This record gives sequence, C-alpha cells and structure tokens, in this order.
Amino acid sequence: MKELLFETKIQVFSVSEAPEIYRELIESAIDATANAYAPYSYLNVGAAVLLTNGKIIEGSNQENAAYPSGLCAERVALFSANTQYPDTKVLAIAVAAVTDGKQTNMITPCGACRQVLLEVEKRYQSPIKILLCGKKEIYMAESAASLLPLSFDGSGML
Ligand code: THU
Repeated sequence: MKELLFETKIQVFSVSEAPEIYRELIESAIDATANAYAPYSYLNVGAAVLLTNGKIIEGSNQENAAYPSGLCAERVALFSANTQYPDTKVLAIAVAAVTDGKQTNMITPCGACRQVLLEVEKRYQSPIKILLCGKKEIYMAESAASLLPLSFDGSGML
C-alpha cells in the first residue's frame, strides 16, 4: 500500500497588497459582475481573463430557466477569450461576485470551470494564475492543475 498526498499552495493577499500586475484584472472581474444575468441565484459573478497580448476579456454568469443551460462567468470569459484570440496564451483569471449590491467574500470556481481551465492550460502549455477576489482578501492559486488533483486530461483516449 502507498499513500499519495496532494498539496495546494494558495497565497492570500489583503486587497491593498494584491500584486500590481493583477490590479486591473481584479477591477475588471468586479466590473463584469454588473453584466451578469442571474435572476435565479441572485449571485452576480464576474470573471476577467488576462492574455499575453495584454488584453483583458470579461465574462459574467448567464443563467437560464432550464438551470443546466446557464453558464458560469469563468467559462463565458475563457471561451470568449479563446474565440477572439485563439493563438494567445492565457496568463491569469480573476473572479468576483456581488449579491444584494455588495461584493461577497471570495468564491471558488466549480468543478466544470476547473476542468475547462485545465484544458486551457493544456492547450497553451502554460499554468493560469487564478485570483479569487473577496471584498477583503484575494486568494491566488498557481494553476488550475493545482486545484484539481488527479484530473482527467484525456490520457487513455485513442
Ligand atoms: N457561478 C459562477 O459563475 N462562477 C462560480 O465560480 C461559481 C458559480 C454562478 C453559476 C450560477 O449562475 C450562480 O453562480 C450560482 O451557482
């Protein structure tokens, strides 16, 4: 028998000490919450993706009366970025949420969004910094892979 132990490094910054290079990205994620369509959960989520060409692409959650037909902010932003700039690497994504007019504590991407982030890391052969933006603190993960141990990456498929 052997045991495997997975560790994930998360850096936690107060909002004021967030790394300078991500300030605009964080603001963009917060701004993007204004474009959410969330009449069912009332959780307005914004995401912003930073590309190597310096562009920031925003997304927000888009809900649907048939619940599974909606999409999270992270995937809206990532798919939009990959559609507009298919040859440009993704460096980072920031996520923020607002409910009842107030920014929430940090929220974490769902499993499906982590899987999509992982695919984007695989596609561009480059880790994506993930910034989870709460009203007081920013949590930063090194990569999607670090948030999804033992993930399915397509190995085994013909
Ligand atoms: N949601 C996101 O957009 N991103 C997350 O990281 C977590 C959840 C959305 C999906 C749904 O519209 C609402 O938040 C409640 O789950």
